[in-house]
Amino acid sequence: MRKNIVAGNWKMNKTLNEGIELAKELNDILSKNKPNCDVVIGTPFIHLAEVTKIVDKNIIGVSAQNCADKASGAYTGEVSAAMVKSTGADYVILGHSERRAYYGETDEILKNKVDLALENDLTPIFCIGEVLEERESEKHFDVVKSQIENGLFHLSSDEFSKIVLAYEPVWAIGTGKTASPEQAQEMHAFIRKTLAEKYGEEVADNTSILYGGSCKPSNAKELFANPDVDGGLIGGASLNAKDFHGIIVAFD
Ligand code: 13P
Repeated sequence: MRKNIVAGNWKMNKTLNEGIELAKELNDILSKNKPNCDVVIGTPFIHLAEVTKIVDKNIIGVSAQNCADKASGAYTGEVSAAMVKSTGADYVILGHSERRAYYGETDEILKNKVDLALENDLTPIFCIGEVLEERESEKHFDVVKSQIENGLFHLSSDEFSKIVLAYEPVWAIGTGKTASPEQAQEMHAFIRKTLAEKYGEEVADNTSILYGGSCKPSNAKELFANPDVDGGLIGGASLNAKDFHGIIVAFD
């Protein structure tokens, strides 16, 4: 059966020392109170090698927030999937709406990133989600479906079974405006149906689909209680160990 996962996305926050402190604090809390779900923290690149040494990897997985769409070479400033893997990290967040919107990441670019992540034995946490105008004009299902088709449906069934999906409605990210549990369930069920049509019921049933967008301790439980919501991808509330833990315990 699919896993429940609570993953943090620190985005561009925390200096190295601050990140180490946060990882230590979270590791201490979770060593004493074993989580009932998988826990992942997505740190900036430069934190990865240090953070993987600090955390008990049986309890906390470590993720990058991006990787290059090329394997290696003259691409100044880029960080490859192989480099991410060499830090000890096991996950990479790909296709976050901030990368799509601010850094021009297209479906074609994301396809390459997904392939390189899988070749390097990283688990992609692949983000999808519509902007407000798309929801208001009732295009949200089409938008999400095309993001999945264009970014992932070139994968074989075996390859696809390594993917974690994160539905993050862009209008809910960092806005304090969360999707209602009904809106989240409706979209997650649609995503699972889309996966089933392509890869069959078994692969679809085994795929973890996380919700992201203003998820916090006060709303995590009702969001995660939905049958097709298998956890969360958490931005702001992952920057504080107590808040992040408050979301993890939604699975207790
Ligand atoms: P917030 O939890 O801050 O809304 O961010 C969600 C997100 O973008 C996680 O990737």
